[in-house]
Amino acid sequence: MEQAQVTIAPARGKLGVLLPGMGAVSTTVIAGIELIKKGLGRPIGSLTQYGTIRLGKRTDNNSPLIKDFVPLARLEDLVFGCWDIFEDNCYEAALHAGVIEPSRLEAVRPELEAITPWTAVFDQQYVRRLHGPHVKKGQNKHDLAQQLMEDIEMFRGQHEVARLVMLWCGSTEILTEIEEVHKTLQSFEEGLKANHPAITSSMIYAYAALMSGVPFGNGAPNLTVDIPALLELATDRGVPVCGKDFKTGQTLMKTIIAPALKARQLGLNGWFSTNILGNRDGDVLHDPDSFKTKERSKLGVLEYILQPELNEDLYGQYEHQVHIHYYKPRGDNKEGWDNIDLFGWLDYPMQMKINFLCRDSILAAPLVLDLVLFLDLAQRSGLSGIQEWLSFYFKSPMCAPFLYPEHDLFIQLTKLKNTLRYLRGEEQITHLGIEYYQQP
Ligand SMILES: NC(=O)c1ccc[n+]([C@@H]2O[C@H](COP(=O)([O-])OP(=O)(O)OC[C@H]3O[C@@H](n4cnc5c(N)ncnc54)[C@H](O)[C@@H]3O)[C@@H](O)[C@H]2O)c1
Repeated sequence: MEQAQVTIAPARGKLGVLLPGMGAVSTTVIAGIELIKKGLGRPIGSLTQYGTIRLGKRTDNNSPLIKDFVPLARLEDLVFGCWDIFEDNCYEAALHAGVIEPSRLEAVRPELEAITPWTAVFDQQYVRRLHGPHVKKGQNKHDLAQQLMEDIEMFRGQHEVARLVMLWCGSTEILTEIEEVHKTLQSFEEGLKANHPAITSSMIYAYAALMSGVPFGNGAPNLTVDIPALLELATDRGVPVCGKDFKTGQTLMKTIIAPALKARQLGLNGWFSTNILGNRDGDVLHDPDSFKTKERSKLGVLEYILQPELNEDLYGQYEHQVHIHYYKPRGDNKEGWDNIDLFGWLDYPMQMKINFLCRDSILAAPLVLDLVLFLDLAQRSGLSGIQEWLSFYFKSPMCAPFLYPEHDLFIQLTKLKNTLRYLRGEEQITHLGIEYYQQP
């Protein structure tokens, strides 16, 4: 089906990238982009930089790079601004994160030293294992949101950016459930003024972004922008949003393997996942209430992919466990083990073991880059509210309340690419392929 082409405003001028949280992920993204700009590294893992998109028939041999097909901001046009509860500049924070080695950081040291974080909106009530001195003071949460908006406007003017995007790269907050205060914009704004305890710090950032017309993405599993009040605001202001929780290591593998089991109709008795991780994120997740937020995000995927309600025989009984252990010696170099107990023809049991020795922030950084560029594209294309086509990047993809989230990585990729085709008025690719074999 041919689509009418959407009008996409050009990606002219600088794009400001606002990152609440200047820890391992943010510093790896910023240092990485500065290294790449100098030809000292490659943006591996980034769909926007390396991915191609097929257009038309397979016989057309037309598969341009995604970045040549849709107008995206250039890496040279990105300017970064961060908030953190620690005063360290981006170079010091990158050293502390220990992801990129100091000798390699030296080449971009001046660029990183120039990025000093603004004081954060932070309350230890929501991230218990962190204490930081670099925190805003305000009369109430509404006042704190105003201060964030002032930071945003100051940054906009100082760097003369044409557009902005905000992506939450702060710590995982404790589990919060949707309450009355989250249900309408009016109750949320009243709650801000009344310092309602169910309004977390990350929600205040999301509110400030949307009020400033800035697209907002959430890299952590916290509710943040995924509440009716802020979705109402996003729609009212015509601002795109997406989340939650970057899909990087173990869950990435899970959303690759589980669809394969289901596709072949192999049964599942159990899936046991465990990890060791020694970075600050691992430390924060040591608090059981922060872990609960992460656990919920990680546990959901199998149920949606396997759909036990449709296939009780194969998926009605399985046990799924996820564990994360803070183990300092590993730093950012996470190790994950998965034991999958499956069964096949005549119920014969089998096992699959996955041992993924990955690097947390190295896997997350290209996702941040892609999300920044795609959220900006979404806004220039006039898209607003939940961007379900960006589910590809998340463990708990946001979707409309009457839908279930799509977790299968390959369906997510198809959805993403078809959205790009839609934006450019290109035919959707259904993979039917019958046209190559049937005579007209
Ligand atoms: N592969 C991955 O690395 C990965 C995957 C999925 C999700 N995540 C999520 O991304 C987030 C960032 O991960 P990380 O490894 O960079 O963690 P990190 O602990 O290294 O960095 C988080 C930073 O956020 C800061 N912070 C916390 N609360 C803040 C607030 N209210 N305002 C401003 N700053 C605040 C902390 O001081 C810290 O510097 C975490 O929530 C993590 O769960 C990471």
